[in-house]
Amino acid sequence: MAKSPTEVELDVVNLSEDGLGGATLNDRPIWIRNALPGERVIARILKRRGGKKFADGRLVDSAGSEVNANKDRVPSACEYFPRCGGCAMHHISADAQLLHKQNSLAEELLRVAVEPGQWRQPSALVRTGYRRKARMGVRVVGENVLVGFRESFSNRVARIDHCLTLTKELSALLPDLKSTIAAMSEPHTIPQLEVAQGDSSVAILVRHLQPLSAEDRELWCHFELKHRVQVLLQSKGYDTLARLNEQDEVMALDYKIPEYGLSLQFYAHQFTQVNALMNRELVRTALGYLGNITGHIVADMFCGIGNFTLPLARAGAKVVGIEGSQEATLMGQNNAQRNGLSEQCHFADEDLYSETASAEADASMSATMRHFGQFPQALILDPPRSGAGPNLESWVTSPELEQIVYVSCNPKTFADDAKRLSDAGFVLREVGIYDMFPNTAHVETIGHFVRGI
Ligand SMILES: C[S@@+](CC[C@H](N)C(=O)[O-])C[C@H]1O[C@@H](n2cnc3c(N)ncnc32)[C@H](O)[C@@H]1O
Repeated sequence: MAKSPTEVELDVVNLSEDGLGGATLNDRPIWIRNALPGERVIARILKRRGGKKFADGRLVDSAGSEVNANKDRVPSACEYFPRCGGCAMHHISADAQLLHKQNSLAEELLRVAVEPGQWRQPSALVRTGYRRKARMGVRVVGENVLVGFRESFSNRVARIDHCLTLTKELSALLPDLKSTIAAMSEPHTIPQLEVAQGDSSVAILVRHLQPLSAEDRELWCHFELKHRVQVLLQSKGYDTLARLNEQDEVMALDYKIPEYGLSLQFYAHQFTQVNALMNRELVRTALGYLGNITGHIVADMFCGIGNFTLPLARAGAKVVGIEGSQEATLMGQNNAQRNGLSEQCHFADEDLYSETASAEADASMSATMRHFGQFPQALILDPPRSGAGPNLESWVTSPELEQIVYVSCNPKTFADDAKRLSDAGFVLREVGIYDMFPNTAHVETIGHFVRGI
């Protein structure tokens, strides 16, 4: 019989960046979900790793009252929290989540001794129903199939019927996704699904380990017709994505940025910001920082499918978008063409982390020189979690460069790169957080750097 997890009663002393309450057990750290500083909780130990323990917590009930609760605690709006690991902060009030995320960023900046000129008011527009993309695990349990996020500190798939974080359209698909997989001849050959939503359509990416029988394809055709979505089968990597009828073309999804009169296409597996409303706000803020850019040369580093590139071009700049995925730059070019901006923006695919890139082959300068005969006056940086990479200094050497807008999904690497920019002579004029992922521990940061005097 499986051993049930050990339970211990503990006093919580702090809150980690990941939204975990910190305590000590036998002089070793223990991190607890659903636990806040000042609270006494019963911690159910779920995982041990590298001398640390990880647990789910529940408040010790002080004679039925909640006197023990931290003042920022709120009842979770999600019935699956904290078991489902998709979110980490449903027990914390919206204001306290924002403050905690901003404080985490402030601590990172303090660590590298970069003092921002000013803090931007945190931006938060939606709390639920915002997530347009997700990868979800699939697990067969007897007759039933589970589709969901992983449970906290475990590889198990959480048992959920709906999700408050997903858009309501994606959440509503969960029951039928489960029953469709359950009806397949070999449900256990489906290890995961991805869901992606654009403004006008939805795609479901079904990862399968074995070819589908004709009957199984029929089931998914039925799903496709019933929900008016596009089902894509994925036998290996994303390059194997195919429609149910292999002759049919994989269709792109799209999203609009109405403030700039733009409609951008993307394939379901390509990177796009998951929170559409907050993304529009982020783009507006980034361009607001740059001011009047009519006729200016801008390099959009890590540009993806052109989420900033096209608005910059629409605002009158001449832009080069640089990005590691050739598929993304091709989509960027296609987006520029569809929006009548081919003259104003160009795309280049380059590995911006390549250690062999020398100052002479500097990506931003060489690409803007090639297309517009000038060095960039402004840079947008929107790298992955790992940060801008080893070549950052070489992108900021030209005296023409006046300002940089840095968008980041990782406060740690943002702070490290802010220090490097500061050493290179740029001042962090303003910084702020964007709550792109409410109720999770993730946060988006935006910083505006200007050349120091
Ligand atoms: C956070 S996304 C930003 C994309 C885009 N700016 C947007 O708002 O949709 C980071 C992008 O960096 C790209 N990337 C990752 N590693 C890279 C590398 N080594 N060189 C160039 N681009 C890279 C990814 O393909 C992805 O499109």
